[in-house]
Amino acid sequence: MMHNKHNLPQAALLLVASLAALSAAIVSCDAAAVRLQLVHTDAGRGLSRLELLQRMAARTKARAARFLTGTGGSSASAPVTPGEIQPAPSGVVPGVPDTEYLVHLGIGTPPQPVQLTLDTGSDLVWTQCQPCTVACFPQSLPYFDPSLSSTFAGLACDTSPCQALAPSSNSQACAPGSGQACSYTYGYGDGSVTMGFLDTDTFSFAAGDTTTAVSGLAFGCGVNNTGIFKSNETGIAGFGRGNLSLPSQLKADNFSYCFTDITGTAPSPVLLGLPANLYSVGAAVQTTPLNHGPPSLPSSLYFVSLTGISVGSTSVTTGGGSTIVDSGTGMTSLPQDVYAAVADAFVQQVSLSVHNSTSISQLCFTVPAPAGGQPPDVPKLVLQFDGATLDLPRASYMFEVEDNGVSVTCLALNNAGAASETIVIGNYQQQNLHVLFDLANNTLSFLPAQCDQV
Ligand SMILES: *[C@@H]1O[C@H](CO)[C@@H](O)[C@H](O)[C@H]1NC(C)=O
Ligand SMILES: *[C@@H]1O[C@H](CO)[C@@H](O)[C@H](O)[C@H]1NC(C)=O
Ligand SMILES: *[C@@H]1O[C@H](CO)[C@@H](O)[C@H](O)[C@H]1NC(C)=O
Ligand SMILES: *[C@@H]1O[C@H](CO)[C@@H](O)[C@H](O)[C@H]1NC(C)=O
Ligand SMILES: *[C@@H]1O[C@H](CO)[C@@H](O)[C@H](O)[C@H]1NC(C)=O
Ligand SMILES: *[C@@H]1O[C@H](CO)[C@@H](O)[C@H](O)[C@H]1NC(C)=O
Repeated sequence: MMHNKHNLPQAALLLVASLAALSAAIVSCDAAAVRLQLVHTDAGRGLSRLELLQRMAARTKARAARFLTGTGGSSASAPVTPGEIQPAPSGVVPGVPDTEYLVHLGIGTPPQPVQLTLDTGSDLVWTQCQPCTVACFPQSLPYFDPSLSSTFAGLACDTSPCQALAPSSNSQACAPGSGQACSYTYGYGDGSVTMGFLDTDTFSFAAGDTTTAVSGLAFGCGVNNTGIFKSNETGIAGFGRGNLSLPSQLKADNFSYCFTDITGTAPSPVLLGLPANLYSVGAAVQTTPLNHGPPSLPSSLYFVSLTGISVGSTSVTTGGGSTIVDSGTGMTSLPQDVYAAVADAFVQQVSLSVHNSTSISQLCFTVPAPAGGQPPDVPKLVLQFDGATLDLPRASYMFEVEDNGVSVTCLALNNAGAASETIVIGNYQQQNLHVLFDLANNTLSFLPAQCDQV
């Protein structure tokens, strides 16, 4: 298991076509282009809309704790050492997962299936491994077993992938040349932590009849994984800007995803380094710059400039904090003052009474008895970015549920509280949008799309 690579292994691209008409081709190239399948984490669980909303709200709250500013620097999604882990915020139901969309891929030769949360808010790619010597959460797939893979290799602590771990994740003293294994501790601000060894293996990405295999990708083999996991994920796929993330390791110039309805079960693709057909539709693509964030937040996050929010006729200013796009967050999360202004504008403009609920923390309105099938009118919610406008369809910010026999319509936004200055654009607001992260040009583009057909 010992080896000596001093550079990130050159990603060799191996295209395996299972179509009889095509002969298998081996292509070597610098960057790998892959297509992955994505499903919502709660797909097929038979949860009610109320349960879905509650789970999403709880996950969002837990997650928002990662992006607090002014609480001792980069405590957020940057790896933290165990001593610095923040407790899960109060109000979070224990055991509620903080996952949203799962990507499916295979690790090893022959490939063993894993399903990882797509997380643009972190970098490490990891899955639970066998033998799980300390603590693994239950998962529906078998744990990844390195002994069954002919291409698996451990990484020594003086290799560059190991050095790419933040110092706080890579706490061991490393004796160069000793061949000492690369161990890691990677924490998430919601209190979840994975510990294990950084290894390399071949990843297989299946799309239709074609499988793309990329050798030598670094990933964490987690053997002590605790926190808010406990869902159908087997680990997390970091899609951040850091060197260990999946897009960085694949040297992808861009990636895109398109989230199908959160309440649906239809899968959709993640494209890495592939021409997204964003520009072929004819509709206007919106594009905004990806910026640098403040030193207090991890540089691997995707920062955008949100210049304003409008609720019908009311304009709300967004304060001085940063805005990030995080696929690990369910509902868009706003600092308390911004949230209050948005909620107040809804209360002023919706001609229904506010529904005070003990089971839903969002702002809800009572829907009059004969709803007649048509959801009640609400003002338009528009997010104004630098150079781009996200004119949200109603279904991307309102949520209809039954609460204690009362029909209500609720605003799918999270109040992150007074301690937070960061706005987090979450998945609920990105449903049915094709979102392209252009890493070469540092832009984020989006376009309404029917995601199960992208
Ligand atoms: C969990 O994942 C497994 C393996 O992909 C799948 O067969 C199963 O349907 C999933 N269960 C739920 C509840 O989503
Ligand atoms: C990340 O990769 C770049 C380019 O490959 C390299 O210059 C940089 O030192 C790496 N950063 C870390 C922390 O390894
Ligand atoms: C496993 O993880 C938990 C939580 O991070 C930690 O308290 C414990 O010390 C770890 N155990 C080992 C053996 O590393
Ligand atoms: C994404 O990157 C690939 C590979 O470099 C390129 O062919 C494609 O045009 C890019 N897509 C977009 C939308 O920029
Ligand atoms: C809901 O709560 C608010 C503030 O606590 C209160 O002003 C309002 O009257 C309550 N509405 C109903 C219908 O109970
Ligand atoms: C990216 O930048 C290059 C060079 O500046 C430009 O030619 C290209 O059109 C840009 N692509 C997009 C999608 O904006």
